[in-house]
Amino acid sequence: MNPAIRCDRTRAWSRLMEFHRLHGSTFDLRSAFAKDPQRFESLSFESPEVFADLSKNLIDASVLSLLAELARECAVEQRRDSMLTGNPVNVTEGRPALHTALRAPRGQGPFSEQVHDVLDRMLAWAERIRDTAASGIRHVVNIGIGGSDLGPQMAVPALDAYAHRDLRFHFVSNVDGHDITPVLRELDPSETLFVIASKTFTTQETMANAGVAREWFLANGGTDTRKHFVATTTNVQAAAEFGIDTTFGFWDWVGGRYSLWSAIGLPIALAIGADNFRALLDGAHAMDVHFAITPIERNLPMLLGLLDVWYRNFHGFGSRSVAPYHQGLKRFPAYLQQLEMESNGKRVDLAGESLPFSTSPVVWGEPGTNGQHAYFQMLHQGTDVIPVEFILVRTPTHGHPELHAKLLANGLAQSQALMLGKSTQQAAGERTPTASNAIDPGVLAHHRTFPGNRPSTTLVLEKLTPRALGSLIALHEHRVFVSGALWNINSFDQWGVELGKALCSDLLPRLASGDTEGLDDSTAGLLRRLRD
Ligand code: F6P
Repeated sequence: MNPAIRCDRTRAWSRLMEFHRLHGSTFDLRSAFAKDPQRFESLSFESPEVFADLSKNLIDASVLSLLAELARECAVEQRRDSMLTGNPVNVTEGRPALHTALRAPRGQGPFSEQVHDVLDRMLAWAERIRDTAASGIRHVVNIGIGGSDLGPQMAVPALDAYAHRDLRFHFVSNVDGHDITPVLRELDPSETLFVIASKTFTTQETMANAGVAREWFLANGGTDTRKHFVATTTNVQAAAEFGIDTTFGFWDWVGGRYSLWSAIGLPIALAIGADNFRALLDGAHAMDVHFAITPIERNLPMLLGLLDVWYRNFHGFGSRSVAPYHQGLKRFPAYLQQLEMESNGKRVDLAGESLPFSTSPVVWGEPGTNGQHAYFQMLHQGTDVIPVEFILVRTPTHGHPELHAKLLANGLAQSQALMLGKSTQQAAGERTPTASNAIDPGVLAHHRTFPGNRPSTTLVLEKLTPRALGSLIALHEHRVFVSGALWNINSFDQWGVELGKALCSDLLPRLASGDTEGLDDSTAGLLRRLRD
């Protein structure tokens, strides 16, 4: 591993600090556009399948060039190469992070033979299940959580236009029985395939739900568990002990939240078929190549990662809202939450030193236009500035162009409104038929003022194809890598999930026995309350 320099110890960091001190609070998007008629052209970027308009962000050429300098001082390109070639960049677990190898064409990435053997075997098996007349399968239930759930749960609806029309997909993740119960109610064991998805095959929630599914299957006349249960895991032995002998494996160098390209993507392959699954991988690979070879100044994952650091550490913005204007991407914000917050929600650097600056923002959102009727009020007039990332798709896969035009107009209008705002003077000059007659017009104008100058990025896809979705996801994986590399943290471990798991193991028997000895007063009181 190269001795990486943490961002706050570079010359570029001090220069950015100074730049922000001088210009940060006075930068105004409206005047930036007025001064520079080329602003849209110079701040919009092409990458495989994704066009990005960064011009509505609080940046200009000087900021971008300082940010590129920061990336160079922090050796982000060398760190990227180190990840791509399979060095153990996940230092606390001594492993590489080679999700990119899962989508490299045969013969081109590390572990290529292993990767393509499993891929070919899995896709051939998926095609046999997709022959529903022969397989008899009509329902696929993925039982998994976190990275073994969120990728397929996001991608299957996103690619609905490409999905098998006779297969229905269900996702069970929560150990709350309210998750699996309504799903099982709908099913007939003879038509159901359960995919037990778990990298470790030890995760409490998944194992518990898999047990419930097996019990239900046998109690409802299911006979051949070998035909109706399949496992996607790195722990083939544990799957066999559970009684599953069709297993598609992957490897410890695939992080859970980066695993949809591996056997964890089986539900996606079942939905869209082998050719489309390969197109998804191709799209991601195209983004990998873009990330690997494009100079920082035009490298979209680099630019987004740098922008994230600019907003988090210099502007102090604590969150980023994602607004996909495509209903198929309704689970994309949840997917990004795990990707970004589990990767970069860290408080020490690689050397274990506490960080004096903030790391992962809160990532959240809903599809447009739904979000507009819920929390966009706060984005426009609240006290916090929250950068928004719009995702617009030019061509729909449905037959209602009039709906699509309205959708796109809404997306454009929101980014425009965030930037332009509305002055008090403008508001005062407007007719307001719905306002109270009792309110002073001057006071009302303040309520109706929008400060504007609120930043947003707009990503545009031509169409939400498997290939485009692959590129879009890989773009986000790499931007998370870039901000993590600048912060000099390990984006590939997740020790923060351990403590709760250990305490849960202690509390579970106490819930049965009522033993509260040694517990803090609050937990003991709550435990009694839940038992009484
Ligand atoms: O929440 C922690 C975590 O380890 C995630 O990183 C992972 O995606 C999830 O649990 C599921 O783990 P597994 O695939 O091993 O069941």
